[in-house]
Amino acid sequence: MAMLRIGVLADPHYAPRDTVNGRYYRDSLRKLRQCAQVLQSERVDLAVNLGDLVDTTRNIREVRSHLNAALDALSPYSGEWLHVLGNHDLLELDKDSFLAACTGHRGRPAERCGYYFKDVGGYRLVVLDGNFDGMGRSYNREEFDWTDCYISPAQLIWLKDTLAQAKEKGLRAVVFTHENLDERQTPEGRDPHVVHNSGQVRSILEESGTVLGVIQGHCHTGYYQVIRGIPYFTFPSMVVDPDGADATFGILELEGESMAVAGLGSGWKNSRTGLEGRIILREANGAVPGEARPG
Ligand SMILES: [Fe+2]
Repeated sequence: MAMLRIGVLADPHYAPRDTVNGRYYRDSLRKLRQCAQVLQSERVDLAVNLGDLVDTTRNIREVRSHLNAALDALSPYSGEWLHVLGNHDLLELDKDSFLAACTGHRGRPAERCGYYFKDVGGYRLVVLDGNFDGMGRSYNREEFDWTDCYISPAQLIWLKDTLAQAKEKGLRAVVFTHENLDERQTPEGRDPHVVHNSGQVRSILEESGTVLGVIQGHCHTGYYQVIRGIPYFTFPSMVVDPDGADATFGILELEGESMAVAGLGSGWKNSRTGLEGRIILREANGAVPGEARPG
């Protein structure tokens, strides 16, 4: 089976506003274009935007126009984009408007639902939407609490079915999400980048017996850890690289049971992924390097 190569970017937060706290909002337009050009010249099979494509300017008319500018900047890549919803994408837009804009630019999902899958080259690529509150209600403009996110109950049922179906068809699954599904502590307590019901989600992934790994955004420093045989790899953000720096993004390489990330751009060396260059998340025999093995 030929290798499947997927371009991946996270957290560009594009907005026409000045730099704050090391977030170079304005620069992201140039970086998105640079990333799309590289993905085109690399001829990747598909591309994924891990969310927070845009940031707020507190003006709904403006956010529509800078969302369109960000989507236009992705157009040098002529293949398909899978868009993952990020919390910042929904600060002024509702999900439907955001997804409709993505669909209008050759992006998925056409179904106007934030969670969906696509089968390609023997893999099922599953996109999740972590922008729900504890009651299973969609977060939408101005009512967002980013520290209180969940994968909704209906989505959990869907995820279980989708993975069971993938297993039946002999497909290996890779999960893409903005909000994180692993588990981490910070000095202040539980890392708020992680959805509150991540344990429930991980059980579904583990029990499915078909998930190769989870690729996530949202936590700008990036992160990498393995939990119960599944690698959780968080891409560093595009927005924090200083002015003039190369765009930070990567290429996910899938071949049989193997899975690797090749990092491109300048943001990797300061990230907490431990990656500079290329990292193997799964070997050809499916083994996960660095996994604590019993005994
Ligand atoms: Fe985010």
